[in-house]
Amino acid sequence: MRDLDVVVLAAGKGTRMNSTRPKVLHELAGRPLLSHVLESVADLAPRQTVVVVGFEAGQVRSAMEARAEIEWVEQQEQLGTGHAVEQAMHHLAQAGVVLVAYGDVPMVKASTLKRAAKAAQAGKVGLITAHVSDPAELGRIVRDDQGSVSAIVEYEDADTATRALAEINSGIVAAPTHCLREWLACLNRDNAQGEYYLTDIIAMAVNDGVEVESIEASESEVSGVNDRAQLAEMERTYQREAAMTLMLSGVTIADPARLDVRGQVTCGQECFIDINVVFTGSVVLGRGVRIGAGVCITDAEIGDGTRIEPHSVVEGAQIAKDCSVGPFARVRPGSVLDDGVKVGNFVETKKARLGKGTKASHLAYLGDTTLGAECNVGAGTVTCNYDGIDKHSTEIGNDVFVGTNSTLVAPLVVEDGAFVAAGSVVTTKVESGDLAVGRGKQRNIKGWTRPDKRDKG
Ligand code: UD1
Ligand code: MG
Repeated sequence: MRDLDVVVLAAGKGTRMNSTRPKVLHELAGRPLLSHVLESVADLAPRQTVVVVGFEAGQVRSAMEARAEIEWVEQQEQLGTGHAVEQAMHHLAQAGVVLVAYGDVPMVKASTLKRAAKAAQAGKVGLITAHVSDPAELGRIVRDDQGSVSAIVEYEDADTATRALAEINSGIVAAPTHCLREWLACLNRDNAQGEYYLTDIIAMAVNDGVEVESIEASESEVSGVNDRAQLAEMERTYQREAAMTLMLSGVTIADPARLDVRGQVTCGQECFIDINVVFTGSVVLGRGVRIGAGVCITDAEIGDGTRIEPHSVVEGAQIAKDCSVGPFARVRPGSVLDDGVKVGNFVETKKARLGKGTKASHLAYLGDTTLGAECNVGAGTVTCNYDGIDKHSTEIGNDVFVGTNSTLVAPLVVEDGAFVAAGSVVTTKVESGDLAVGRGKQRNIKGWTRPDKRDKG
């Protein structure tokens, strides 16, 4: 929308959060509230986005550093929503439309914002409202006999009859820029809170014969966050919706109330997600992937038919088809598992590539390592990748057998088909087909007598 400017209000302290952090930086689904709003706003491709900050402005700005498109305006004193918008007006073009959104109303959909902006483009005021079960202290929408919006009355200023109205102001509103400028100039602080109310522009619009189009949104979309209890409630609402989307796309979820999505997840058909799973960042699951209970997956791609067994942690990894990971495995960034790989319990991988069919079934650390296809890594195998100063790599060919409790001291090469005897410390290259035995020789003492307990003192 080329004639659209957006003003996001985020200057408030959020007193009821009882926090040193500004309210808009508290997180919903792993991202600051403000990020959610800015993301929906960005979907409208506005000409300009101005964020009004006040309390801990520096913290808010640095948290949003990645969003270069934003212009920041400081509201030194928080004198009300009308005053906040006024601060931003100097930064906006004369012609066009303005949409005002709130940094603490994070679940509003881009499509709803678009409807408000479109109303403004048609010369009207677009006002997002909702019917809610508990209107609490929100502004009430007052309508005339014809059902048209005539004003917004703040809770503190409302009489009992007005307080009984169940339609509330979301706070999100759009209007033609030139109208908004005029109305803002007419605001005063003659009200119960002594604030410049943005909401007073509605009665002004009606008075000027400008139509107010109300856009009804769902309760969850327009919910604001005022305290940590509301934040937690909103998190559940968000997660329920995320789980619903996945289920409708063909994923079976053991319990939709026990899944957390903190980012983007895409799943092929017939995936199964057990309880207490957390997905963070960008997660892509192929077809028929099974995710066990208590698994955490961050920024990973997982191929068709792979199983991630309970209580495994996977981050920054690419896992191909038909692999088996866990239970209790830790697959760290830079891990690449080819088809049919097995990474079993208490195995940790980091910057490790495991070729097709390779197995490390128990208790191993594989870091800065490449393993070819069809290798077998015994329990207790450790790649010693760090010499105290630098990291070094271990390169293992195809069809290598690493016996249990082996210590592979990097830099090291183990060629195709080599065999490492159990309990070896391997420090030099093992050539193709060779057996490396790197352990102290066993000696047995004939006829040895055990110490007698009675001999003691
Ligand atoms: C406001 C609306 C109310 C609506 C409610 C929805 C007014 C007068 N009232 O209520 O009708 O139902 O939102 O949540 O607009 N802010 C600033 N600077 C200020 C004051 C506020 O940036 O000087 C920001 C806050 O950080 C917040 C937003 O504006 O993001 C709303 O402020 P808040 O005080 O929470 O809203 P209310 O006055 O309760
Ligand atoms: Mg207020």
